[in-house]
Amino acid sequence: MSKSTNIKWHDAAITKNERKVNNGHGSAVLWFTGLSGSGKSTLANAVSSSLFQKGIHEYVLDGDNIRHGLNKDLGFSDHDRTENIRRIGEVSKLFVDSGTIVTTAFISPFRSDRDQVRSLFSEGEFIEVFVDCPLEECERRDPKKLYEKARRGEIKDFTGIDSPYEAPEAPELTIQTDSLSIEEAVETILSYLKDHKII
Ligand code: ADX
Repeated sequence: MSKSTNIKWHDAAITKNERKVNNGHGSAVLWFTGLSGSGKSTLANAVSSSLFQKGIHEYVLDGDNIRHGLNKDLGFSDHDRTENIRRIGEVSKLFVDSGTIVTTAFISPFRSDRDQVRSLFSEGEFIEVFVDCPLEECERRDPKKLYEKARRGEIKDFTGIDSPYEAPEAPELTIQTDSLSIEEAVETILSYLKDHKII
């Protein structure tokens, strides 16, 4: 529900379609979702680098980074996570409107939040990528040593430990990072973008 009144939407001088034509490629959001340590950021950055090398407009929105700025007022309660994802959904929509292929790396643990973001987009623009990696493997990797802390009870509401993760039921793509190399994963994602005429 909007709190603002007396506001009026202004149509932009340049449309998304005009930008597509100018850029020579489409725009979309690659929404990576998965447990902490599953490889979302690594994959999002690898895909972005590959797109960049092809001269495609790209940008990465990463959970840890966004929580240093735009979302630094948010913690990890269910309510705050929902607000985190709502804001990133809106920001992603702006990027897609700007003609960019935006990759997002947020745990985004709740199905309803991800579906809410999907509903902001036109058909085909929201590409949900399930970064599927078993909890045991994420915990074995534990790159930030956060699972260790969560197990010791030093971090509360940690996803997979004492906060839930709801896996996507029908993601556009599933990437098993415990069995696929980064190169293979990037290839799979780029093929999807080509097959759907986004690049
Ligand atoms: S989300 O659930 O709201 O989507 P987001 O992706 O922004 O989470 O942030 C997750 C990152 O924050 C993790 O990769 C981890 O580095 C850090 N983090 C700190 N505390 C927690 C926690 N309680 N649960 C999950 N991640 C946490």
